[in-house]
Amino acid sequence: MKRKHWVGKISDIQQIKNKIFKIEGIEFGLYEVKGTWYAWNNFCPHMGASICKGLVSGTRLPSLVYEYKYGMSDQILRCPWHGWEFDLTNGRLLVEPQTKLRGYPVEIQDDEIYVTLPK
Ligand code: FES
Repeated sequence: MKRKHWVGKISDIQQIKNKIFKIEGIEFGLYEVKGTWYAWNNFCPHMGASICKGLVSGTRLPSLVYEYKYGMSDQILRCPWHGWEFDLTNGRLLVEPQTKLRGYPVEIQDDEIYVTLPK
């Protein structure tokens, strides 16, 4: 059974963006990238760190030796333990896309944000 939970208002973005929520025992982080909201489980598939305590940033894009191209600004979640980088728009590990964070559907109704959790 799935249940939809209210988590906040878009107008309170500073209070809810990149924050960790715990609802009915499920911890997840709430993220906004270019106007779209995402909810990712607070569990790194590598060794189980609280991934949502990691920094949100960009990353180094493929480039030549001695070249440094930065991109995907504010779209990368970096695990605080070993630095694995996940794309916040799809939950995929950058270097191994089949490895993925567990996500939950986010729904926006007017100014309200809801996350659907599996119980
Ligand atoms: S536990 Fe997240 S990168 Fe190792």
